[in-house]
Amino acid sequence: MNELIDKIKKLKKEKNAVILAHCYQNEEIDKVADYVGDSLYLSQMAAKTDADIILFAGVYFMAQTAKILCPDKKVLLPRLESGCRMADMISLNQLREFKSKNPGIPTVCYINSTAEVKSECDICCTSSNAVKIVKSLNADKILFLPDTYLGKWVEEQLGNLEVITYPGFCPTHLQIRPEDIEKARKEYPNALVLAHPECHQSVTKLADYVGSTTGIMKYAVESDKKQFIIATEKGVVDRLTRDNTEKEFILIKENIVCPNMKWHTLIDIYNALENEEHEINVDEEIASKALCCIDRMLEVSK
Ligand code: 13P
Ligand code: SF4
Repeated sequence: MNELIDKIKKLKKEKNAVILAHCYQNEEIDKVADYVGDSLYLSQMAAKTDADIILFAGVYFMAQTAKILCPDKKVLLPRLESGCRMADMISLNQLREFKSKNPGIPTVCYINSTAEVKSECDICCTSSNAVKIVKSLNADKILFLPDTYLGKWVEEQLGNLEVITYPGFCPTHLQIRPEDIEKARKEYPNALVLAHPECHQSVTKLADYVGSTTGIMKYAVESDKKQFIIATEKGVVDRLTRDNTEKEFILIKENIVCPNMKWHTLIDIYNALENEEHEINVDEEIASKALCCIDRMLEVSK
């Protein structure tokens, strides 16, 4: 494995490439990644890199977002199968239908959406800035898509606006049930429960902290508590356990895994860099409209 890691690092240097990895990736990928984090952090890193090639170890919409932010750079996704099942739940036609049933209302899309969908929304958000983004609109009603649970969680946090949500969801996070939290709390009475806002509301209601993947990791590292029940994808638990040996992290239940995030291996990354594949491109007109939606978010998130 070390030989492969060295070869990837050499290729990165030769080609002036940067590797961005989401924290749900196979943990070995951190050994070659320049930046590891949540979707907001990775899009901020993509926006400011001066590399010629961006290799995205993440899901399709993340690579697409990087391409929209950096149209002159080559953006590579090692395995094309790595789509986000939630992003694929809303097409442009479904978005248009949703908007036409609720006319004249500002539309916020989660970054987990396609470029086409972003191109017809007012602003985009991630799980770490959703409350701030929605608040910035000063609206009493918004449309939120595709994640119904993130939308409802934002509504609860703000309390003074109505969030009309599209019925999309993350199949991985929806496997977590309130009974799982209750069971884990009985087993580990001193542990804090940290959950991702893509979880069902009945789960986030029972958590001590709700936040993005980076938010959860930061909270756990900074807390003076020693034991944490983690209600999100397994990659977060793997990294927390590796980097914080004096603390204990318990995955809420077995197999909370996003299969699409786990496609990329070190060999795929090597092949992708060597052959400069698979290149992600976005239609220019769609990209320029989607860029407005993403740029507005980055501006508010500064
Ligand atoms: P983060 O923005 O927290 O990284 O979440 C992205 C995601 O797809 C979670 O399922
Ligand atoms: Fe998409 Fe869910 Fe996987 Fe995140 S965990 S990338 S929302 S399918």
